[in-house]
Amino acid sequence: MDQYAVAGNPIAHSKSPSIHTYFAEQTKQELVYSTLLGDEVEFENQVRDFFEKDGKGLNVTVPFKERAYAMCDILSQRAKQAGAVNTLLMGKNGDLFGDNTDGIGMVRDIVENQKQSLTGKRILILGAGGAVRGVLEPVLAENPESVTIANRTLEKAQALADQFDCLASSFDALEGAFDVIINGTSASLSGSLPPLKDELVSPETWCYDMMYGKERTVFLQWAHERGADGADGLGMLVGQAAEAFYLWRQVRPDTASLVESMRQQME
Ligand code: ATR
Repeated sequence: MDQYAVAGNPIAHSKSPSIHTYFAEQTKQELVYSTLLGDEVEFENQVRDFFEKDGKGLNVTVPFKERAYAMCDILSQRAKQAGAVNTLLMGKNGDLFGDNTDGIGMVRDIVENQKQSLTGKRILILGAGGAVRGVLEPVLAENPESVTIANRTLEKAQALADQFDCLASSFDALEGAFDVIINGTSASLSGSLPPLKDELVSPETWCYDMMYGKERTVFLQWAHERGADGADGLGMLVGQAAEAFYLWRQVRPDTASLVESMRQQME
């Protein structure tokens, strides 16, 4: 049977095997999807070994996305823009092809599952790390009115803004309400929030957190307390997996039903 896996460290709690197994059952594809504990020194050899043993496709997660990027022979445009790879496959001639499905997975979740258009919207993105870099190109492809990147370290926001032709700001200098706010900081991991002024959000603002959890995230709680609706990143996790699955199998799985059942299992 065709072999797939996700490589990362740690990896034991990855949801990718159950997500891809669900997709395979749903679309009647015969495949096995497992985990690969990435080794800090041996990662590149592990990847080569996986494909030499006839592996068909590999997802890559923290902390190896940049190393996966560096070892590819061919990169998709969106992987080039992201500077990171989360999906690998081997061409017939042995070339390693890398893609990044994180951003498109998020945008499809927002547009198709959450039914929120980004077109013509004033968008604020919080954070300027790898997660934000990965989503900028697909967000800009939706033709928003403007994209402002706000970050604790202004230079990092400015560097991304220069590369992607959008705006950069410190949290302090932000003014007025945005139509959409996307949280891509890792602050929520520690249950904290960047210093956000109340005026940034109104009941018409729609908020998205790339993080997700059983409880409402601190960012979505902040939005909720100010009357704004939103969604967390569970759909992004499933969405990026669906894009990788499509790349490998040329079949597009339905994501909404899986997000709903994962949400129920968290309760
Ligand atoms: P990732 O790959 O998850 O994006 P990263 O590249 O380390 O991780 O980026 C983390 C992002 O979260 C950065 O934008 C970081 O801000 P700095 O660039 O100033 O470090 C942001 N971040 C992390 N903790 C934060 C906090 N407590 N408040 C505000 N921003 C925070």
